[in-house]
Amino acid sequence: MIPDKAPKEDVFLGSEDLKKEAHVPSFDKYKELYIHSVENPGEFWGDVAKDFFWRNKHTGQFLDYNFDVTKGEIFIKCMEGATTNICYNLLDRNVHEKKLADKIAFLWEGNEPGDELTVTYRELLQRVCQFANVLKSQGVKKGDRVSIYMPMVVELVVAMLACARIGAVHSVVFAGFSAESLCERIIDSQCSLLITADGFYRGDKLINLKLLSDEALQKCKDKGFPVKKCIMLKHLSKEPEEIVGSRSPPAKRSCPDLEIPWNPEVDLCWHTLIKGASDDCEPVWCDSEDPLFILYTSGSTGKPKGVLHTVSGYMLYTAITFKLVFDYQPDDIYWCTADIGWITGHSYITYGPMALGATSVLFEGLPTYPDVSRMWEIVDKYHVTKFYTAPTAIRLLMKFGNEPVQKYKRKSLKILGTVGEPINPEAWQWYYNVVGEKRCPVVDTFWQTETGGHVLTPLPAATPMKPGSATFPFFGVVPAILNESGEELEGPSEGYLVFKQPWPGMMRTVYGNHQRFETTYFKKFPGYYVTGDGCRRDKDGYYWITGRIDDMLNVSGHLLSTAEVESALVEHKAVAEAAVVSRPHPVKGESLYCFVTLNDGVSYNQTLEAELKKQVREKIGAIATPDYIQNAPGLPKTRSGKIMRRVLRKVACNEKDLGDISTLADSSVVEQLFQNRCCTAV
Ligand code: PRX
Repeated sequence: MIPDKAPKEDVFLGSEDLKKEAHVPSFDKYKELYIHSVENPGEFWGDVAKDFFWRNKHTGQFLDYNFDVTKGEIFIKCMEGATTNICYNLLDRNVHEKKLADKIAFLWEGNEPGDELTVTYRELLQRVCQFANVLKSQGVKKGDRVSIYMPMVVELVVAMLACARIGAVHSVVFAGFSAESLCERIIDSQCSLLITADGFYRGDKLINLKLLSDEALQKCKDKGFPVKKCIMLKHLSKEPEEIVGSRSPPAKRSCPDLEIPWNPEVDLCWHTLIKGASDDCEPVWCDSEDPLFILYTSGSTGKPKGVLHTVSGYMLYTAITFKLVFDYQPDDIYWCTADIGWITGHSYITYGPMALGATSVLFEGLPTYPDVSRMWEIVDKYHVTKFYTAPTAIRLLMKFGNEPVQKYKRKSLKILGTVGEPINPEAWQWYYNVVGEKRCPVVDTFWQTETGGHVLTPLPAATPMKPGSATFPFFGVVPAILNESGEELEGPSEGYLVFKQPWPGMMRTVYGNHQRFETTYFKKFPGYYVTGDGCRRDKDGYYWITGRIDDMLNVSGHLLSTAEVESALVEHKAVAEAAVVSRPHPVKGESLYCFVTLNDGVSYNQTLEAELKKQVREKIGAIATPDYIQNAPGLPKTRSGKIMRRVLRKVACNEKDLGDISTLADSSVVEQLFQNRCCTAV
């Protein structure tokens, strides 16, 4: 499956300098380790596990699983019987055993340039213990779910690790989601407590998180699920003495007009609670398969799925992928620009890097604020060595040319990474040539919320790169490409990307709905985990992700389901039916093109259009705002009433070659749709 020798043509080779110190220094070494990892997974992962603290050793098989629905329930178990605590491994062990107490864990950079602070491993341990005691004093116990709805601040990491320390299960909800989305997630995971902040700035825009949180809690109450407590961190309204570790004046983020509603029965102030809290907190020892966190991702039925990850497997997998894919070295300054509200932030800001005792930049702001040089300014300011971002950010910055990049030196950079969506070769080349000055390998990491960590990825000193290809599987991962009949294709081919066996970090279930887990990922092709992505394998065995092949869209690296957006649209009283398809977008990758059929007697106008956009933003969040809305008095349907989305995708792109449309009930609808096309985004 993996070629004997790495190809030498049409590839980019990593830097020779890197090879000298790399953990995996050559393709041959990668291949040798890969074969070992799939032939002897117990031994391979057992070696990885030696780097961690185990209160009790595991008893059974290292990895036990059933991937075949026809043979019984799907399950994945790693290191059953072992007990540990992930927070202990990330903090206490680094502080007490590895002598990293005074090493900086996070270099926090605020939205405003100059607003910055640092936190060491010792300080973080202290703050996590205090907050863990706060949670305990509020009645949070092992297994309880806690929602976290916060900006990119150090306290977000503190809150996650405090949950992990006491065995509570965190459910972080991206702070760009709406109150409605937060409410839906709180209820689905039956969270007993919400942790939030007063507000934050995203660029120029003030986001009043406390107002949104209150709205969400009101909705929860109205739906019969009252949340007992809400802990609010003061971020914008902090008093100077409440700012820990700041090297800059708090005025940088003061916001005198911020409205902070307060309900004394529910609301608690983070700073008041922390004042009296002890910084001594014995970790709760958890079983390997105890839940660590829930993170929601879009589902094709419209209802988000609560992806559940468990303690030990996730810890091993995020640590080893971080170490090898970014070739982590102790003097690295690592920066992942993702938000912690997404899986990339969970795995490659919080858990993976901290397991290694790394120093990371934690950035609150935007790549374009206050100007389009901000990323490179930060790279120089902190001497960032490993930089991980999304193709959409690269494409966005590429539009402004080379000058904003070249204003800064970027000499510290050694490795560049991308994640979240296919990267087009042009953007890859710009990233490699301009940002990395042909010196830094680009690791195009393919993975999913469900996979927990990288599954297809180059290793920077070992894998010759092809722009746009995620190259080869990570250790322990066995991909295959299937055709529509479920047959495995050999050699160069294209089809469904599936995995044949688990690795420690993969999801265990959909929270509260194991059947949905089985149906979504294991039913279509029994015996395989189905990613939902299309994939091509070339003559050299390289894997190229071709995009989603289900009803999902990837807008700026964020997965959205068409059904979710459609149901938000039809909730508007003017809309009878809605169909949403993807239209390629030069920066966002894909954009949302929405067709709406209005109720009788309603006419389409700009006010309605604005209302519909607002409706989607309020139901889901700003990331789901439609780019195009087209009034469609008729939709192309088969005689059995099924909407032919294939035809709608052609209309959205103005492509007249429709293929076979003989099954359409009324073909005149198509003509009308082309006539009414939206030419410009709304
Ligand atoms: O379609 C693939 C795309 O993002 C999906 C997973 O989205 P999510 O669960 O939100 O996690 C994103 C961050 C890991 C995948 O099914 N995707 C992710 N990385 C890549 C990618 N597509 C192509 N190349 C990638 N490197």
